[in-house]
Amino acid sequence: MTDRTIGYIVGSISSTSINRKLAKALARLAPEGTTLVEIPIADLPFYSVDLDGDFPQAAVDFKQAIADVDGVIIVTPEYSRSIPGVLKNALDWAARPYGQNAFDHKPTAVIGTSGSPIGTAAAQQHLKAILSHFNAPTLGQPEGFVQSTPGLFSDEGEVMNDATAGFLVGYLEAFGALVDRYARVPSGV
Ligand SMILES: Cc1cc2nc3c(=O)[nH]c(=O)nc-3n(C[C@H](O)[C@H](O)[C@H](O)COP(=O)(O)O)c2cc1C
Repeated sequence: MTDRTIGYIVGSISSTSINRKLAKALARLAPEGTTLVEIPIADLPFYSVDLDGDFPQAAVDFKQAIADVDGVIIVTPEYSRSIPGVLKNALDWAARPYGQNAFDHKPTAVIGTSGSPIGTAAAQQHLKAILSHFNAPTLGQPEGFVQSTPGLFSDEGEVMNDATAGFLVGYLEAFGALVDRYARVPSGV
């Protein structure tokens, strides 16, 4: 098996984020040889085209962090049936300046949790459309719709429900296989 470093972006800056707990759970459950590292977005300023010629250091670091990993999992809440503004802002930084999109050919997966039975499905549809535009291969199955119940995740990312833990292990395995498949395709093909 190939060693992999997978970055994760949490689409919430809430101090009590259930999606951050889900991300921690994924990090804990990662198979041997797979390391999950956070790619933070909280320090990014609002994107403006005015800054294309002089990217702020936080945006330079953000794009480099994406370049440095073998794949990216985006763990996001659903806000108003779409993705939160902080996540969209981060994705806009990643895509710019024009022609220097950090997600081009980068294997990606999306997952999220909310109290709703559809578990962020509407947000994920919008996010997958953006990633498609970015030319980022994205995991199709399994779909990462996780309905949160109180206490499902501990603050440290322990999963209190065996079925959910099993699902997350399978999700990570499927994404690992996608990452490995694209690792064999030279960039720019
Ligand atoms: C502005 C706002 C919009 C929301 N819209 C949705 C929504 O469309 N669908 C949904 O399932 N939950 C929605 N919620 C509830 C979130 O799922 C819930 O607040 C969740 O805890 C957010 O994830 P986080 O804890 O990781 O920040 C919304 C919450 C906020 C604050």
